[in-house]
Amino acid sequence: MADQQAQTALETRPPALPALRWDEPPEGPVVVLLDQTRLPAEEVELVCTDVPALVEAIQRLAVRGAPLLGVAGAYGVALAAARGYDVPEASALLAGARPTAVNLGYGVRRVAAAHRAAAEKGADQGGAAASALAEARALHREDAEASAAMAGHGLALLDELLPGGGHRVLTHCNTGALVSGGEGTAFAVALAAHRKGRLRRLWVDETRPLLQGARLTTYEAARNGMAYTLLTDNAAGSLFAAGEVDAVLIGADRIAADGSVANKVGSYPLAVLARYHHVPFIVVAPVSTIDPDTPDGASIEIEQRPGQEVTELTAPPQIATGAPGAVSGLPVAPLGTQAYNPAFDVTPPELVTAIVTERGAVSPVTGPAIAELCARSRQV
Ligand code: MRU
Repeated sequence: MADQQAQTALETRPPALPALRWDEPPEGPVVVLLDQTRLPAEEVELVCTDVPALVEAIQRLAVRGAPLLGVAGAYGVALAAARGYDVPEASALLAGARPTAVNLGYGVRRVAAAHRAAAEKGADQGGAAASALAEARALHREDAEASAAMAGHGLALLDELLPGGGHRVLTHCNTGALVSGGEGTAFAVALAAHRKGRLRRLWVDETRPLLQGARLTTYEAARNGMAYTLLTDNAAGSLFAAGEVDAVLIGADRIAADGSVANKVGSYPLAVLARYHHVPFIVVAPVSTIDPDTPDGASIEIEQRPGQEVTELTAPPQIATGAPGAVSGLPVAPLGTQAYNPAFDVTPPELVTAIVTERGAVSPVTGPAIAELCARSRQV
């Protein structure tokens, strides 16, 4: 079934533009984003000259995905410092832009701390701003290095769990170069398998309602010449039942101290399906996604999104022109219909086969194993 739908004319082209970059034109420093609401139709850059513009871009998902939100938060603080804005105020705005991905607050806090430390040591505004930018750049670089390490650990685990090779991997949401300074998390593992000739098929959940799978993961898979097939989220059950899935690979927005995993809504049902069908369910995320201060899944704040994302059909350019957090599109439900639209769900640790990070993997996933992982030094 899968192979009948193999793509033709496979080609290898990484994303045309970086997901995020710092720039210093004559008018002053800016954070430049590849506007993900416009993909795959258009590759358009969005230039943020101030923190409110970046916050708006985060809220309407022009920039998104946990690791990249960390990078965006980091450069956002650097931008505030470079332009002479109030850094604590800018940090609070940025950290509060979206609640679930812990990386956002991590990036913000880390660069704000570097800025504060420089100021406390007597640096002037320019010097403190330079320290903030250096820290943001370091975080960006580390994220790229973490991606490469996760890809290696993840592929080794896949090969161990599925010794036959020819992996058919199901993924959800978007976890590639669009969410990272490198090649991403779960997607980076699939890409590593593809490069070694061991990826038979990447099954891509469309990921309702904002279609990160349909719009973004397919974009990345096509550009990398991977054999992929798109499915509606609710077709996953029949795909498992047909024996077409060897492993599930997903990312994470926050991993609690007990190993509970918050990720894009629809991940938890995949974990239940995977368990029923005896298929490994693997989470790939950098250590910065683990939050030791969140004890368990119930303590993870889940972002609730506007109901129109469900009651209306949305198209990327329409999303792009909406107000922060708002969308406009073709109504698919009667006016006034209420919608349940959480952005994420939580998978309990007992349904997770393994968590793969840049410091290696843990399996089974337990609180003590997570604590031990956080204490590990990096394995490469
Ligand atoms: O709402 P989004 O698009 O920011 O959600 C992104 C996800 O849920 C990703 O799966 C998660 O951030 C992991 S990305 C490595």
